[in-house]
Amino acid sequence: MKGIILAAGAGSRLYPASLPISKILLPVYDKPMIYYPITTLLLAGIKDILIITSPNDLENFKRVLGDGSEIGVKFSYAVQEVPRGIAESFLIAEDFIQNEPVALILGDNIFHGFGFSSMLQEVGKRTFGATVFGYLVQDPQRFGVVEFDKNNKAVSIEEKPQNPKSNYAVTGLYFYDNNVVEYAKTLKPSARGELEITDLNKIYLEKNKLNVEILGRGFAWLDTGTFESLLQAANFVQSMEINTGMKIASIEEVACRMGYISKEKLIELSKKYKQNGYGTYLEKVVQII
Ligand code: G1P
Repeated sequence: MKGIILAAGAGSRLYPASLPISKILLPVYDKPMIYYPITTLLLAGIKDILIITSPNDLENFKRVLGDGSEIGVKFSYAVQEVPRGIAESFLIAEDFIQNEPVALILGDNIFHGFGFSSMLQEVGKRTFGATVFGYLVQDPQRFGVVEFDKNNKAVSIEEKPQNPKSNYAVTGLYFYDNNVVEYAKTLKPSARGELEITDLNKIYLEKNKLNVEILGRGFAWLDTGTFESLLQAANFVQSMEINTGMKIASIEEVACRMGYISKEKLIELSKKYKQNGYGTYLEKVVQII
């Protein structure tokens, strides 16, 4: 399975904080935001990842992440010239996807919760249909919203509805079979001029091929779209990391846990950060992997 991280938004809701650099490279506590979606894909068993950026930010992403070989994976890059919607990712990535299934994650989506890795690994093995994740929110009008029947089967999905049929938002993590490129080519721009991911999910729903996994209570799906929510996300990560002594979304640690790099390589990588707690953590965590 291939993976795509869409990191192309202007992030204008965070201006001037995100004027110097893409929002997706801003720190969430102790690491750049993109580390969080990267580790989500790594945990799903995905090692071949395309990062889609805006033209201005391409070089910054390459400088931060390189070709991925350091952590035993492959990063490649593509540009979305103008923000024409999430579903355009599959048109941009057509040559990259080839004949494999593909997962897409939005660069600003942070997931954390017990049992998530095993859920991802299970979903990462599916080669048929689509899988999306539903999460209970207070303000469903801001999201794609999925409605269920009494057997918990998804029956409708709507983008930013004024009168939401449920409080379940569709999160920014999507798994598709190889038909996704073909379906994306049939989409027409919405009223806001975008190829909507929700329209793509509707195609799968109509064909009875959309699975919706619920991320339950106690699970964290964090928003980073406003000054307040970005700071709250950082505070959440800090508090979890301090309480447990374990880091969330360390790409080096996850690569080692997944067997993409050896323990010796992890120790070598820790030396890059030897002046601070991130390096000390990597040195320590290697003993319990
Ligand atoms: C997008 C999708 C929406 C989804 C959300 C998750 O919203 O269109 O369906 O619920 O991401 O983060 P946007 O970022 O375009 O507001």
